[in-house]
Amino acid sequence: MRLHVVTFGCQMALAEGEELAAPLKARGFTTVDAPEDADAVVLNTCTVRENAEHKALSLIGRLKEWKDARPERVLIVAGCAAERLGDSLRKRFPHVDLVVGAKSIEDYPRVVDEALSARFDALAEGRQAFGADETAVPVGWGSAVSAHVTVMRGCNYSCSYCIVPSVRGRELYRSWDAVLAESAAKVAAGARELVLLGQTVNSWREGDKRFPDLLRAVGALPGLLRLRFESPHPFFMNDDMARAMAETPAARGLLHVPLQSGSDRVLALMKRHYTGAQFLEKAARLRAFLPEIELSTDIIVGFPSETEADFERTLELVAAFKPAWSYTFKYSPREGTEAARTPDDVPAAVKEARLARLNALCDALTADALKARVGTVVEALDEQGGFGRTADGFKISWTGTRAPGRLVKVRVSHAGPRTLRGEAI
Ligand code: 5AD
Ligand code: SF4
Repeated sequence: MRLHVVTFGCQMALAEGEELAAPLKARGFTTVDAPEDADAVVLNTCTVRENAEHKALSLIGRLKEWKDARPERVLIVAGCAAERLGDSLRKRFPHVDLVVGAKSIEDYPRVVDEALSARFDALAEGRQAFGADETAVPVGWGSAVSAHVTVMRGCNYSCSYCIVPSVRGRELYRSWDAVLAESAAKVAAGARELVLLGQTVNSWREGDKRFPDLLRAVGALPGLLRLRFESPHPFFMNDDMARAMAETPAARGLLHVPLQSGSDRVLALMKRHYTGAQFLEKAARLRAFLPEIELSTDIIVGFPSETEADFERTLELVAAFKPAWSYTFKYSPREGTEAARTPDDVPAAVKEARLARLNALCDALTADALKARVGTVVEALDEQGGFGRTADGFKISWTGTRAPGRLVKVRVSHAGPRTLRGEAI
């Protein structure tokens, strides 16, 4: 039996793709690259921006033919959009077998089993008769060298543009023991980089333990070479966190710090609880503890009522902050959020033009950071034999040594717009 998993959306959704596949794999499914080759498709949907949701819905629509071709096939829709749309999804797309919302992910294996076990058994019997499984090509999620560990889910904030708190619910923390056990198991299985995940990952706590304690403990696992976490909330980005990173060699390189806007007026409307100046101050403190660190960020343009002057503040702040990477978005109203109650009054063409100006600045900052590495020797974690990432998160390919799962010293000879090239030394 063959399974195809598709994820649209954030890191969290990507990591959950693995969890969503697990109970099916336990029933004997192997993963394949294309839905046409699959007996079951799990579609992991994200709703954080309108765009991701549209893509997911249009794929569900297209999968009707896939299902009609062999009605015994199974289509499962999971994740945040499934949570948000629930029954209406089932009504609009009757060919969907099971809808499992993001809040039910802990229950997911049981739900899948209860709802579909008879179907899976029938599929398995039919398959054995044809013995078609040999053609299945297993695919991984990311590289085997880098693995995700979910640390917490949900969010206790209420940024006014954001649908996450309503589809994910309040913060739930996994236990210290569970996080350490999963991390140790993944390292024992060959992972050399772990990415700790959660909507506000650094708000994790258990008893008197806080996120910095967890970071140190995971960072001390023998064999682990890189430790990342995302997305941290600026509120918990304090000196303790920076100190724990500085004391954990695997965690020193890169941090994603979402800015969202540079205008204090817009930040207040967004309910981000910091001003531009406070954000820069946090970034400066992080860099003081971690002189080698690179920071990446998320920025939204065209939030309701954003003026030209507001947008220019964003450009100024980005120029001062100098993120090595930026993920930029046009604001889209999400139903039920506070911001969606005010008119989406920045015209589409203005949003588009602002996005283009912001992207030009962000791309130039990324290009500067890449160019600054030319001629230097960097340490790359080999993820795929001659391709990997530097400690500060830049993609790099090189000639010479191939050593998947190991650190390779590379002299950088060339910087492209997004990646580095060099020779192993
Ligand atoms: N419109 C545009 N971008 C959004 N994001 C979250 N909600 C919205 C929205 N309604 C962006 C934020 C967040 C990232 C995951 O998605 O920048 O950090
Ligand atoms: Fe959304 Fe804000 Fe929570 Fe991040 S912190 S998930 S942007 S509400």
